[in-house]
Order: sequence, then C-alpha cells, then structure tokens
Amino acid sequence: MSHEEKKREEPRGTMLERLLARDRKTLARALTQVESGDTQAAELVAACRRSMAQQGWSRRAVRLGLTGAPGAGKSTLVEGLTRALRQRGRSVAVLAIDPSSPLTGGAILGDRIRMQSMAGEDGVFIRSMATRGHLGGVAAAAEDALTLIECAGWDVLLVETTGVGQGEVDVVPLVDAVALVLAPGMGDAVQAMKAGVLEIADVLALNKADRDGMDELEQEMAAAEALTETVTGRAPRTMVRTVATSGEGVDALLDALLAIACDRDGVRQQQSKQNAKQAADLRVSGPLRESGPQIDHLGIAVHSLDAAEGFYRALGLEPQPRETIAAERVRVTMLAAGESRIELLEATEAESSIARFVARRGEGLHHVALRVRDLDDVVARLRAQGVRLVNEQIQVGAGGHRYVFVHPASAHGVLLELVEAAH
Ligand code: CO
Repeated sequence: MSHEEKKREEPRGTMLERLLARDRKTLARALTQVESGDTQAAELVAACRRSMAQQGWSRRAVRLGLTGAPGAGKSTLVEGLTRALRQRGRSVAVLAIDPSSPLTGGAILGDRIRMQSMAGEDGVFIRSMATRGHLGGVAAAAEDALTLIECAGWDVLLVETTGVGQGEVDVVPLVDAVALVLAPGMGDAVQAMKAGVLEIADVLALNKADRDGMDELEQEMAAAEALTETVTGRAPRTMVRTVATSGEGVDALLDALLAIACDRDGVRQQQSKQNAKQAADLRVSGPLRESGPQIDHLGIAVHSLDAAEGFYRALGLEPQPRETIAAERVRVTMLAAGESRIELLEATEAESSIARFVARRGEGLHHVALRVRDLDDVVARLRAQGVRLVNEQIQVGAGGHRYVFVHPASAHGVLLELVEAAH
C-alpha cells in the first residue's frame, strides 16, 4: 500500500496517533503550529521524540540538505532528486526553509511553482517554512519540523535552504549530508566562501553544466579544494556536474549524498549529537539500506525482566526503556544486538499468551520477527497461499509500528512476527 492510500484511512484519535497514521492534514497543521511557536506543537514534538526513542531511533529518515545562493537552481535540483528517489521507491518530503524571509503564512513560493505541481503526487510532501516567529531560531524550528515529518513516516527528507549565510550553517547539523549548489557566472563561490557555507558542504553540485563558464567554475573549485587539502589535510570533496532542468547528473548527485549519509564512521556522524551507535542503528533500520526481509528481533519469553536484563547486561547488551503493551498483556524491553535486536517479554497477567507459554514450556525463544518493507503486500500474498495468521487484522503497536503474527502451524513450527520497516 502506498503512502498516499494510507492517509485515506481517515485515522481518528490524538494528534500524535493521526501523525503516526501518516495523515497529511495533521502533519500540515502540526508544521504550522511549529512555525508559529505554538506550545501545543512543542508537546507534540516531544511526544514524537519519545515515540521514536521507544523504537530505538533518534532520527528515523535519511535527511539530505541542499543549499546555495538564489538563482543557482536549487529548487529544480530538489525536484530532480525527488523524482530520482521516487523512482527508487522512497517517499520524499521536501522542507524549504527561508531563514531570512518574514512570515508569509508558511509559503515562499518563488521558483517553487514547478515543485508545487508535484505536491499532490503519491509519496511526495512539500512544505515551505518561514521561521522568523520561532523563539528557538531557525535550527530549532527546522529540527522540530523534521522530527514531525519523520515521525509521520516519510523515508527521505530533502531540506532546501534559501539564501547564503548563517541560516545554512545552522541547518547543517540537522541533516546527514549537504550539497552546495553552485552555478557558473554567479560569483557564487567567492560569496559562499565568505559566508562560511563552502566549508560545511559535503558535496559540491556544479549546476547548469550546459552553460558557458562551467569549466572555469570547476577549475576554480578544484583549485580551492586542492589548496584546502594542502593547508588542512582535508581530502577534496566530490564535485558533481548537474543540469537540473534535464535531470543530467541528478542520480550521481543523489548517490554522492547517500554515500556521505550512510558513512557510519564519517566525520559528520561523530560530530552530530546522536552517538555513533544510534547512527549505525538508524542506517540499518532506515529505508535505504535494506533489500529483502531481514531479522528484526528474536522474542524471548522470561519470568522476570529484572532477572533476565542482568544476564544480558553482562553480555554487553544495553536494555532500552521498558514498554508495556496492554493489548498483549506483556511488558517488553529491547536490546540492540548489532543489526538486529533481542526482545525480552514478561507477562503482566496470568491470563496472557506469554504467561501460558512460560507455564507450559518454561522460559525460552517465543517468536522470530522479520522486518518487511510492505506489510500489506506480504500479508496479501500469505493470505492468497492460505497461510494462517494469529491476528485477522494488521496490528499497530506502541510507537505506531505495524505488525502481524503468523501461526506456527503455517510457519513450520515457529511463531513468526512480521513487522513493517520504517518508511
Ligand atoms: Co516481537
């Protein structure tokens, strides 16, 4: 099921629940609240962070930034990157931030009219944001907005900053990789270097490569990179020639950005506030790494979480905060183990499947959980094969993740949980 179809389920409930259910209108409203510094927004953002933390994420989506002087063709490049990501099967949310413009009801259209034509498309969400009214400044407002968007389930966030200056520098720590867009004949390079923006870019996009002056621009930038390497030892950065209007070079630019974003030991990951392990977990859980289904976790039924956690701690596995799932009458704790996890389950009531399991067989392996990309699709295929599911409907767990259990009778003796990958 596509992102677009999910929103038509008309979710009810709290704003957080509607956000987790990927309701676009709720997201749009929440972003407006963030923009205007509404206190309700701060509560919702905090709830989103808690919800993601329960799943072991500090960030969920892959975040790519694009910056550069007006007229360099950023918006057209954003459009091209959006199309490229859609072709790769990812949903894309674009957040265009203008740190210097006055509040205009959240819409700075300018050359973004072409992009607006994509706004109604399946798997594309576009939002402009003015941040002058936000008390915490541009970076705080942008981080809140990005948290809301990724909590609402979008795969890739493209953050476009307009103008060249402090706003760009502030936004950089919020993204996993950033491209500086330069075009020939604009004096951009010099301007950008003065503003310090050149320093913070990971990739240089030399746009309008079909124009005169491209060779000069490339030589100028290559010389600057070589000089920097001599002085600081920093390796020259990737330069990609693009023609945003024709789409030339856009895939190469995307790949260059993703290479930085997925680099677990990269400088940016070490600099960012989240610890390196969380970043690694994020990359694994994130949408751009997985191909087929993979083991999400092993569920182990125990008498007591207190007792079991001590054992796993001794093994070097750190328990995450416990969570009670009322519907399943169970209390769980997750332990990150490399690219997978161990889930310890303790019954909260005698009349529960975990309590019955432990009474009948003692402590032990209770279920195996596979992470799949499209749960609806997998469930439909299993149903078509006559596979027996424990639940009739796909369940929604704490934190909004979707799952279903396949009965051991159909799964060759194993209780098999299928959980949907974040997207
Ligand atoms: Co489980």
